[in-house]
Amino acid sequence: MAHNSTRARLQQLTNQVSSSAMASPFSVDVVPQAPEDPLFGLMAAYREDTSDKKVDLGIGAYRDNNAKPWILPVVKKADEIIHKDPEVNHEYLPIAGLAQFTSASQKLIVSGDSPAIKEGRITSLQTVSGTGAVHLGALFLAKFYQKVYPKTALYMSNPTWANHHQIFSNVGLSLQSYPYWHPQTRALDFDGMKASLESAPDHSIILLHACAHNPTGVDPTPEQWSSIATIMKRKSHFPFFDCAYQGFASGDLAKDNFAIRHFIEQGFELLIAQSYAKNFGLYGERAGCFHFVAAPSSDAGERTKRVGSQLAILQRSEISNPPAYGARIASLVLNDKALFSEWEANLRTMSGRIIDMRKALRGKLEDLKTPGKWNHITDQIGMFSFTGLTEGQVAKLRADGHIYMTKNGRISMAGLNTKNVEYVATQIDKVVRDTE
Ligand SMILES: Cc1ncc(COP(=O)(O)O)c(C=O)c1O
Repeated sequence: MAHNSTRARLQQLTNQVSSSAMASPFSVDVVPQAPEDPLFGLMAAYREDTSDKKVDLGIGAYRDNNAKPWILPVVKKADEIIHKDPEVNHEYLPIAGLAQFTSASQKLIVSGDSPAIKEGRITSLQTVSGTGAVHLGALFLAKFYQKVYPKTALYMSNPTWANHHQIFSNVGLSLQSYPYWHPQTRALDFDGMKASLESAPDHSIILLHACAHNPTGVDPTPEQWSSIATIMKRKSHFPFFDCAYQGFASGDLAKDNFAIRHFIEQGFELLIAQSYAKNFGLYGERAGCFHFVAAPSSDAGERTKRVGSQLAILQRSEISNPPAYGARIASLVLNDKALFSEWEANLRTMSGRIIDMRKALRGKLEDLKTPGKWNHITDQIGMFSFTGLTEGQVAKLRADGHIYMTKNGRISMAGLNTKNVEYVATQIDKVVRDTE
């Protein structure tokens, strides 16, 4: 009896607790349903499409001529070496990551003979790929740059990689944009960009894509980079380079870091986010690096150390220490002469196939006399091409042709191959004529 009444009392208490525990602070007004990430949504829609004609031009990852992921042969080799190495274990890396990896990354991104390296003006931390590096830079700017210039905005190109908006606004930086893409010429809006840099308040933070601009595939020429640097110096703007495609863009590592080298030569203090996702095909391994480069001055070395110490605290509170595997692979290749040359050859394979696909798509559209001009397809560089197709045309290509691309008309050149380029060109031709 007594037992039963205790049970009833307990049930009563449980009911009370569970009914009072029902009220959550996360109501729909507080936490509304977020939209699906457009790119990941696109990937899911492509997977579900059962048509044998389907073509994925949304994917931001390299594919070989059979539309398959490509493990770089040099990465396979490095992988085997690591597996056979009895010294490799699963211990934590230091907070700043694998030292051989970060020092080799410095040499790659600013070039080995850079005075910034010799003078100890660079501090580098291994990050969770390029995204992690952009985020670490964003945190650093929000915490420290804003102390000196509290009202400063960060200017990003219009358009830019969609994630930039979230990464920088999440840390509380205010965002502005500078014109970049000229829809009529389908090329760089250089005048618009320069005017915007001129009119931005002094000491603004300017986010620049080091090469192979995503999503447009349009890069400034070396002369244009030089004018950009001149304006930014006069205006004391602060550069933040995002470099996700070094070597993948042109096939030439030195060509693809020209802008960064030029700005360092001009004496800027700057930040760099470096990704190894595309150029090593290490997408899921999340290998990347963040660099702070101090401007030359008598206290530059001391400043670099101070900045490094604060970056380590930010890193510790975010990820504690970075993942080891991808960095071990990249480090092995970057620090070995023979493997490094093999990597350069692998880079040329990827960039070469992409350049061939640009030529093939443009050629087929011109053969078909598709209305409009298509020279921008070969003028652009890197993984992506901004085709100029409208949102309506993109939707029609998907519905009628099972061809998937982002709403803004960006196509991943890596999704094209000798077997589907003719089909894609024919479908684009049809859609352009139908909607003229
Ligand atoms: C401009 C740009 N920045 C950064 C990244 C970061 O990529 P990940 O985090 O995979 O290295 C990308 C990837 O698409 C990119 O296009």
